[in-house]
Amino acid sequence: MFQTSGTGQKANSNRFVYIAAAISAFGGMLFGYDTGVVSGAILFIQQDFALSPTLEEIVVSSVVLGAVLGAAAGGTLTDRFGRRIVLMVTAVLFALGAIGTALAPTVFWLIIGRVIVGMAIGVASFTTPLYISEISPVTLRGRFVSFNQIALTSGIVIAYLTDYALSDMRGWRWMFGLAAVPAALLGIGMMFMPESPRWLVSHGREEKGRSVLQRIRGTTAVDDEMQDIRQSFVQQIGNWAELKSPLLRPAMIVGIGLALFQQVTGINTVIYYAPTVFQSAGFASASAAILATTGVGVVNVLMTVVALLLLDRVGRRPLLLIGMAGMVISLAVLGTAFMFPHLPGLRWLAAGSLMLYVGSFAVGLGPVFWLLISEIYPVKIRGLAMSIATVANWGANLLVALTFLTLIQIMGRTGTFWLYGLVGIGAWIFAYALVPETKGRSLEDIEAHWRAGKHPRELDKK
Ligand code: BGC
Repeated sequence: MFQTSGTGQKANSNRFVYIAAAISAFGGMLFGYDTGVVSGAILFIQQDFALSPTLEEIVVSSVVLGAVLGAAAGGTLTDRFGRRIVLMVTAVLFALGAIGTALAPTVFWLIIGRVIVGMAIGVASFTTPLYISEISPVTLRGRFVSFNQIALTSGIVIAYLTDYALSDMRGWRWMFGLAAVPAALLGIGMMFMPESPRWLVSHGREEKGRSVLQRIRGTTAVDDEMQDIRQSFVQQIGNWAELKSPLLRPAMIVGIGLALFQQVTGINTVIYYAPTVFQSAGFASASAAILATTGVGVVNVLMTVVALLLLDRVGRRPLLLIGMAGMVISLAVLGTAFMFPHLPGLRWLAAGSLMLYVGSFAVGLGPVFWLLISEIYPVKIRGLAMSIATVANWGANLLVALTFLTLIQIMGRTGTFWLYGLVGIGAWIFAYALVPETKGRSLEDIEAHWRAGKHPRELDKK
């Protein structure tokens, strides 16, 4: 197995990867901003358009629906036309959606605009980690890909703060419209970035692939890496048949399983509904609840930074398992806290366990899911396979968003959070049994592992 760049190489040889990762991570930032911003905007939209509860729910979930569509369409497109072009087109969609929603004359146009934004999010949510993963040196791949999750979580906090800053002027149009700025930065930035060398080689453009690789590695000595890339794509067919082959089934199960567990353990009930949860735990005023929510957002960013620093050192599996255990414990505490509504310290207990929950997600399941699905699939069908896992992720997100309030009505807060905790135990067992350690493995090495028909966990033993 080759070891590209990494420790032996000059530090500045990775500079290019830093820049490319940072620019493409605007895709992640838009993902976070555009999903977070609606929590504040909806208060004013609801009044301006006199929305019924059903219409309000449609406005909020239209973006998630769009994301399912975008993720479904995006896979084949990234495999056929390349990662870079698709990210550029996505930037245009983000900008169109931002401007469209900002100017929407009726609620109908608002919903159309949000669906367009959602489609862009659906594509960006997997194409950004895909692109970064394919340009990263093996020893730092976890760190670079997780840039995207940092950008995403920062996007959520920026959205909360923007909502807060613009709420006095009831500026929901600005809240949506401002997303055009990072969209422009993504589109213009990507014009100056190269296509993924792995995609180029897998499409027969070997010379171009080699020159890009030399540029991003900062050295002409890329023969080993080129050899590995060439070898892996020669063995592939690159279509649905390949995806369905029994050899790739374990990889599909790992990706789709993590996609579902990332959502059905309830993260977005906190991201989308934190102010409501805080209010019911005793933070009476709206501003106290918003402040506490911003605190949750900041913990989310900080713990993602911790993950980024550790992923390539301790590995993906330990972080995933420790993070999931933390989620289960905090959900158990949170549920129990709501059993005693008159407990004097209830609000602090609720705030503390919510922070622990989000922090545990941010150190494990948050970044590790997106990282793993960018690593475990063969290059020629990587876009398609990632898009399937991403559709599962957004589909489950939609399901949780649509059922959370009903669940609370039926089972109460205690029952609901305990239910997510129980699912979390299932997630832990799934991860323990099936999720492979990909730290230090080249993408081609991981691909060869599946082709040899081995169990996912055997990858750890190499
Ligand atoms: C998830 C999103 C979630 C976000 C929160 C991402 O990894 O896919 O659904 O809103 O993390 O930080």
